[in-house]
Amino acid sequence: MDSLKKFKENKLTTKELNDFKIELHSKYINMLQANNDFFKSKEEKQQGKIDNQELEKYKAKSVEAKAEFKKICGSKIFIDNYKTILKIYNSTTKKNSSIILEQAKEELNYAKNLKKEFKDSVKDHGRGAQLTKLDKVAVKVENLKFKYAPDFPYALNEVNFEINDGEYVAVIGHNGSGKSTLSKILIGVLSAQEGHVSIYGNVVTRDNLDQARKFLGIVFQNPDNQFIGSSVEADIAFGLENKRVNPKDMQKIIYDSAKKVGMENFLDKEPLNLSGGQKQRVAIASALALNPDILIFDEATSMLDPKGNREIKEIMVELRDKMKKTIISITHDMDEILNADKVIVMNAGRLVKIGKPEEVLKDKEFLRGIKLEIPFLSLVEEALDKEGIKIKHSQNMDELVKQLCK
Ligand SMILES: Nc1ncnc2c1ncn2[C@@H]1O[C@H](COP(=O)(O)OP(=O)(O)OP(=O)(O)O)[C@@H](O)[C@H]1O
Ligand SMILES: [Mg+2]
Repeated sequence: MDSLKKFKENKLTTKELNDFKIELHSKYINMLQANNDFFKSKEEKQQGKIDNQELEKYKAKSVEAKAEFKKICGSKIFIDNYKTILKIYNSTTKKNSSIILEQAKEELNYAKNLKKEFKDSVKDHGRGAQLTKLDKVAVKVENLKFKYAPDFPYALNEVNFEINDGEYVAVIGHNGSGKSTLSKILIGVLSAQEGHVSIYGNVVTRDNLDQARKFLGIVFQNPDNQFIGSSVEADIAFGLENKRVNPKDMQKIIYDSAKKVGMENFLDKEPLNLSGGQKQRVAIASALALNPDILIFDEATSMLDPKGNREIKEIMVELRDKMKKTIISITHDMDEILNADKVIVMNAGRLVKIGKPEEVLKDKEFLRGIKLEIPFLSLVEEALDKEGIKIKHSQNMDELVKQLCK
């Protein structure tokens, strides 16, 4: 049957449906955004901040976004796909073999399910689509504003930045500067009152938050607060069970993620009896088991002894270099920022500086002014400079010592 063969070659699949949902959802968000902007501009017009021409621009954008959303909602592609196979099925007469009849029936059912899911997705604006990576930018934050209560000061105020896929970014700032608030917004525990977060090009909304979270893992400060299981293995398994991972695959995933942090020989041990550094490794393994692309560490090394601290920092670098993970590390450890590709400096809810470590460290007076310590390495370089000893900037102490010994 030629028509059946042709249909199978060109038919729509769940992938196309998923792409459709993503596009539908983004058109929906665009429409809400444009509507909101238009609403605001009306107020601004009344206050005399903008003129009529400007107002008309916002209006036109809002009308256009609405039309685009309406257009995609009116799409008939999945209905047409179903109609095509229905026609083929109806014309598959008894003359054809039962195998062909069976195949046509299978295709008909598949197309029917797609059509049903398509209709549902139009009703809920593309909710629940499996998000794909639409962009090389892992995390984009735009005009983020957050307050814990209406009469509180902003914990985050007009924060904007981009983190590229595979980048190691250190976030520094004095106590209360908004670092943890930022990490909570990124993982969706808190939601911003203004602005938005995009993960790999997908604007995160209430509707797709669960999907967006699959890209993210987080490791917290206190290793003792992160254990649920009675053994290391049970602990790593916990997250996997929650995600309904096939029990057949679990053993291997648990072993592999423990191995990545050097804890594969501790699987039967009780987490409480481990050292702080080992506990943090298990916490990292638990996050890695879910295979997130982006890992957030919120002061994950601050409660560890120097050895544990150093080891966890090495693992973070390895995760970037060997596993191509995107690392966001919130830290008070100014020496750690030398490991980073990019540093974000927060102060009183605002992003006050962003750049490569050496760029950020150049202005020591600025850092001191916002109560940040200067990494030991930079202090040594500064002291040498004052003594008139000119050397190149080093990445770490070893490099500096080598340069001095030359
Ligand atoms: N649950 C909360 N309710 C009210 N205000 C809060 C809450 N959590 C934090 N804040 C306030 O929000 C601001 C930012 O706090 P946040 O915890 O994000 O800072 P941080 O940079 O992580 O600080 P630290 O370095 O001490 O961990 C601070 O002024 C803080 O007092
Ligand atoms: Mg904090």
